[in-house]
Amino acid sequence: MHIPVLTIDGPSGAGKGTVSRIVAKKLGWNYLDSGSIYRSLAIALLQNEIDLSNINEILSIAQAMELAYECDDELVVKLDGQDITAELGTETTGNIASIVAAVPEVRRVLLQKQKDFKRPPGLVADGRDMGTVIFPDADIKVFLTASAAKRAERRYKQLMEKGIDVSIEQITSEIEARDCRDKERTIAPLAQAEDALFIDSSAMTIDEVIARVLSLVPQR
Ligand code: DC
Repeated sequence: MHIPVLTIDGPSGAGKGTVSRIVAKKLGWNYLDSGSIYRSLAIALLQNEIDLSNINEILSIAQAMELAYECDDELVVKLDGQDITAELGTETTGNIASIVAAVPEVRRVLLQKQKDFKRPPGLVADGRDMGTVIFPDADIKVFLTASAAKRAERRYKQLMEKGIDVSIEQITSEIEARDCRDKERTIAPLAQAEDALFIDSSAMTIDEVIARVLSLVPQR
């Protein structure tokens, strides 16, 4: 039986998470937030006080970690039984995730965990290398981006709403540093798949992006 896959790749802050989650819900398909896998590893490393230069320790934590996803209105993620949803979205978690995601062996260890999300009736997969590496045969591929300034502004608003006090300059420079690391790494860098549709969400609302993505899915 053919299981349709829709991949949505792009840099952080382009709106991939919100768009993917809503599109998956509307289609009734499974949802893979691949960034959360790298973020969960980052949390496990912090909790175990692992030195980021110690590749063997990082790999053994990556192999051993048990992740459970509960998708209600919001995504709840459990790492070895512990709810880590609150820590998943922090800047520290994102930065460490981006650092360890550049290690080829780490990506290899986390490969199968991501492929396992492909189950009937379909999958929406969100990340950096969903259409290029993890699901190269995906039925529909989207590359969703926005200008760095727009992404920084959105991220800044999100953090302020959560009561986290940061400056827009700090967010912009962190976003630029993360983009650079994700694009420049030698393994599975952030890149548009040749057969992906490019969407720049800088001047679009989330609803417009969702409608555009849904229009790509053949009538069910
Ligand atoms: O999408 P995100 O911000 O939650 O991802 C956090 C980091 O994880 C990102 O900076 C790079 C890494 N990542 C990756 O390398 N490959 C993916 N498919 C998803 C995320």
